[in-house]
Amino acid sequence: MSKRVRTAVFPVAGLGTRFLPATKAMPKEMLTVVDRPLIQYAVDEAREAGIEHFVFVTGRNKGVIEDHFDRQFELETTLEVRGKTAALHELQKDLPSAGRTSFTRQQEPLGLGHAVWCARDIVGDNPFALLLPDMLFKGEPGVLKQMMDAYEETGGNIIAVEEVPHDEVSSYGVIGRGEGPDNSFKLTEMVEKPKKEDAPSNLIISGRYILQPEIFSLLAEQTKGAGGEIQLTDAMQNLMHQQNFTGVKYVGKSFDCGSKIGFLTANVVYALERDDIRPGFIRELSKLDLEEQL
Ligand code: UTP
Repeated sequence: MSKRVRTAVFPVAGLGTRFLPATKAMPKEMLTVVDRPLIQYAVDEAREAGIEHFVFVTGRNKGVIEDHFDRQFELETTLEVRGKTAALHELQKDLPSAGRTSFTRQQEPLGLGHAVWCARDIVGDNPFALLLPDMLFKGEPGVLKQMMDAYEETGGNIIAVEEVPHDEVSSYGVIGRGEGPDNSFKLTEMVEKPKKEDAPSNLIISGRYILQPEIFSLLAEQTKGAGGEIQLTDAMQNLMHQQNFTGVKYVGKSFDCGSKIGFLTANVVYALERDDIRPGFIRELSKLDLEEQL
């Protein structure tokens, strides 16, 4: 039987240059979709999948993430005194239990692969989930839970994938699909940002992974790849020579909240799904002369 996945790693040390100046003093992962920060959605998804230990790889200006997952006694007391019990319960429910968070620091943003490697001592010799919090997923069950279901059957390494139009593959890590159903198929290869004609499929790696700890020793030796950064995909390609990788074409929808368009779209979609916001939001939108704007 495969070793259980209890730990999730959240790399939150990137510079978020696509969101400057918003991200000059505030981490990208604290940008809100409606009223919850991106990092909270990722933690909720991990918790739903059975994760017990939450590891954050932080960097400069990221102290606010640590504060977000801590108790705020002054705020809690004020909410209690003012009788705002619903808001108080909401805050308390979002918190991981005491001792279930760890923070480590990536001193320089040398790339996603390097950020993951920074978590090696905390994760130890265990499989772990990896969630990129700027990718927001809407799925029932959540995408990581869908991957955990595949992991229970296959063990090894699991990668969530999604389809994109063939014309867009050159912007992503693309996988080759082997045998098996959509919810658990053999992964035959991985190529980072291939030319359209060289791409093995139009299925892209989309920000959720379950990895075996052997990835750490490969990351330790990994030289800089695309963009001068230490790339996770390069280390995974090497790990593929030793271990199985399974693809999960998840059921759900993704929003790339690291890009402005994805982030704005997520806000509209999530707002329209909220009973407390939808009527007022539609009322205000209909007052705008959207046709003229478009
Ligand atoms: P991105 O590729 O979106 O990079 O990182 P970025 O630097 O945050 O953003 P842009 O491209 O400059 O706008 C994907 C995830 O990996 C983390 C980011 O915080 C984000 O969650 N990351 C990236 C690190 O933790 N360290 C790095 O060195 C790079």
